[in-house]
Amino acid sequence: MTELKEEIENLKRKRNALILAHNYQLDEVQEVADYVGDSFYLSKVAAEIESDGIVFCGVRFMAETAKILSPDKVVLLPEIDAGCPLADTITAENVRELKSQHPGVPVVCYVNSSVEVKAESDICCTSANAVKVVASLPGSKVIFIPDENLGDYIAKQLPDKELILWQGCCVTHAKVKTENVTQVRQRYPEAKILIHPECIPAVVKLADFVGSTSEIIRYVENSPAEVFVIGTEVGVLCKLRTVCPEKQFILLHSGLVCPNMKKTRQQSIYDALLNNRYEINVDETIAEKARHTLTLMLELA
Ligand code: 13P
Repeated sequence: MTELKEEIENLKRKRNALILAHNYQLDEVQEVADYVGDSFYLSKVAAEIESDGIVFCGVRFMAETAKILSPDKVVLLPEIDAGCPLADTITAENVRELKSQHPGVPVVCYVNSSVEVKAESDICCTSANAVKVVASLPGSKVIFIPDENLGDYIAKQLPDKELILWQGCCVTHAKVKTENVTQVRQRYPEAKILIHPECIPAVVKLADFVGSTSEIIRYVENSPAEVFVIGTEVGVLCKLRTVCPEKQFILLHSGLVCPNMKKTRQQSIYDALLNNRYEINVDETIAEKARHTLTLMLELA
C-alpha cells in the first residue's frame, strides 16, 4: 500500500468515516473507496451505512443527496467545485413555472438536480429506476426534469404516458453522435454496444443495451460476448476491467470524460479527511421536502 493510501486508511479509521465513489471517478479514487456504484446504489448506501462521516467522491448533488438522507453524518465533498452542468440547467423557480403551466401534473426529477429542485418535485429517480418511477404515477401526464434525453427514453418505454420535458442534457454524453456508433459497429461487428440513456435518442436507438452505469456493468458480467463498446463515462472501465479482466472494452467516444468527476484525486480525499473539507450542509426546511422525494424513490425501487 502506498503511503498516501495508508494515511487515508488511518484518517478514515480515526474519524469513523467511509468513502463512497461514483462509477465515474478516477481509478485511483475507486481503489480507496469502501463503496463504488451508480447514483441509486450510492444513495441507498448513504441512507443505510453506520459511520460518523461520509467522504463523497462524486459531484455536488450526490453529496447533497447523501446529506439529505443522512442528516446526522458529516458529509464531505473533497472538491468543492465538482458540479453538474445538467443539474444547473434548472432552478426551483423554473419548476414552479412548469407546475403552474401544468396544474396537478406530477413532477419527477432526475437525481442530477439541486436540493431546491428536488424539494419542488413529487418524486426523484435515477437512471436505474426512472422508467419504474414514471410508470408508478397515476394519470397519463408527467413532468420530467431536467434531462431531456433520459425523458425521451422513458417516454419510448411507456407509450401510454405523455412526458413534459425540460431541455437539459449531460454535455459529456451528448457528445456521442450516430456516426460514432455506426463506425464502431463496422469496425467491431461482434461487439455489444452498451449506452447510457443520457445519450441523444438517435444514439440510444442504435444500442444493443441501454442502462445506468451499474446496469451496464451487470450486463457485461452476465453476457457471453467478449467485446463491448461502452457508451458512458470512461470511469466505468475501471470496474469493468476488474470484474471481467478477460473481456475487451472500447470507449464509444474519446470525449466521454466528465471533467467534474475527474477533479477528485487520492490527495483530495486525504485533504478532505485531514481538514474536514468541504462539509456539505443543507437547509433543513428544504432538505425535509427533498428527503420526501428521495425516500419515495427508495421505497418504490
Ligand atoms: P448513474 O445513474 O448510472 O449513476 O448515472 C449518473 C449520472 O450522473 C450520469 O451522468
